[in-house]
Amino acid sequence: MKPTGDTVLITGGGSGIGRGLAEALHKVGNQVIIAGRRRSILEDVARANPGMRFLTVDVENRDNARRFGAEVKAQFPALNVLINNAGIMKSENLKSGVEDLSIAEETVAINLLGTFRITAALMPLLLAQPKATIMTVSSGLAFVPIHTSPSYCATKAAIHSWTQSLRYQLRDTPVEVLEIAPPYVQTELMGRFQAEDPNAMPLADFIAETMALLNNPPPGGEILVERVRSRRFAERDGKYDEFYEQWNSYAARRQAERAAKGYDASRKPAA
Ligand SMILES: NC(=O)c1ccc[n+]([C@@H]2O[C@H](COP(=O)([O-])OP(=O)(O)OC[C@H]3O[C@@H](n4cnc5c(N)ncnc54)[C@H](OP(=O)(O)O)[C@@H]3O)[C@@H](O)[C@H]2O)c1
Repeated sequence: MKPTGDTVLITGGGSGIGRGLAEALHKVGNQVIIAGRRRSILEDVARANPGMRFLTVDVENRDNARRFGAEVKAQFPALNVLINNAGIMKSENLKSGVEDLSIAEETVAINLLGTFRITAALMPLLLAQPKATIMTVSSGLAFVPIHTSPSYCATKAAIHSWTQSLRYQLRDTPVEVLEIAPPYVQTELMGRFQAEDPNAMPLADFIAETMALLNNPPPGGEILVERVRSRRFAERDGKYDEFYEQWNSYAARRQAERAAKGYDASRKPAA
């Protein structure tokens, strides 16, 4: 990735981390295209950032992702950076039985298959560029899960694994592969509670630190802000068991707090 002059597509670019990255990359002189399901928020963000473009896509839908790939190729033939950022996170109670797996199915379809689909749809275009980047957004939860969102953590661990294979397969091509593993950040991923949670990293701080790392990606291709490093390296540092207990009891307390304040952590408020 160059500091400027790239053509960058960000899925889930209409809100949260995606929007933050889109605006920061736009400001430093890249052609940025944001994508997601909700046209209204994409329109608002594009309007607030003259020159930024948007396209709608539902990464969960196979035909939609294919159509999207063709649309991107036709409208933005110079596309050379793909940021797979779209994702959802919901609470699940695995004790409720096998009858309703809708949250698990939706989470896998968006977080995992969605990333695979968009990457596949744009791979020929990216491979044809002199230099290109594919970036996946995983999570610190890929490395030490919390029990309150099991499918989410599993998809992020899978994204980490898949990214490593992608990097190896593309090592002799012009396409570099990066992974961003954010810590807990103030966005509406799990609703307003998270966006207002003082324990989460302020979004602006996360974006500023991430942009600095992107200007000079570390060897290995993992973009890790300081706050996520203890989670990322818990196993290596012999801290896994300690953090597993500590962070899971914190997650349980947070879920109880959320419920007490009337937030339903299994679904996000309508836009
Ligand atoms: N915030 C955190 O604490 C945190 C920590 C670690 C990792 N992450 C990851 O960061 C990424 C961004 O999350 P965020 O925190 O910024 O939350 P967010 O504001 O809810 O962003 C998620 C974005 O994904 C888009 N999206 C969801 N389903 C989609 C679909 N089927 N097709 C296309 N777009 C879809 C949403 O737009 P539409 O609803 O309009 O489609 C939304 O813009 C996610 O992958 C998340 O897992 C976040």
